[in-house]
Amino acid sequence: MKLLIINGPNLNLLGIREPSIYGDQGFDRYFNELVAQFPTVELTYFQSNHEGELIDKLHEMGFTYDGIILNAGAYTHTSLALADAIASITTPVIEVHISNVHAREAFRHHSYLAKNCKGVIAGLGLDSYRLAVLHLLGVTTHST
Ligand code: DQA
Repeated sequence: MKLLIINGPNLNLLGIREPSIYGDQGFDRYFNELVAQFPTVELTYFQSNHEGELIDKLHEMGFTYDGIILNAGAYTHTSLALADAIASITTPVIEVHISNVHAREAFRHHSYLAKNCKGVIAGLGLDSYRLAVLHLLGVTTHST
């Protein structure tokens, strides 16, 4: 099982950036915990602040990986190009957010990406990523 986590703009500053919203844990440490927790999963992590690099990574991995967990940061609310990239690949994508975007400013309530994603997890802190991994592993079996 090969899973890719992609973090978009400003998420390289997790742990430093607005800790009251995003917590005080850096992503590298959290990622290492995930790797240790899921030894049977081949987990890969990619972060970029650049929209085109995020699209390139979706194209590169999106036909061979078993799942992609994507936190596109603010591009979630602006990027038709990322939405098209998700629609163009065959790997299922789960959109995740650390904060509860629906409890924040109105401009964060809309996602251009969500309709092309398998599902959306938001507001559960870094646990949002872990829950997405569990779903892709088939551990959570509540299918509709
Ligand atoms: C975020 C929410 C976005 O609105 C914001 O622009 C981010 C982080 C989250 O994980 O809560 O950069 O995606």
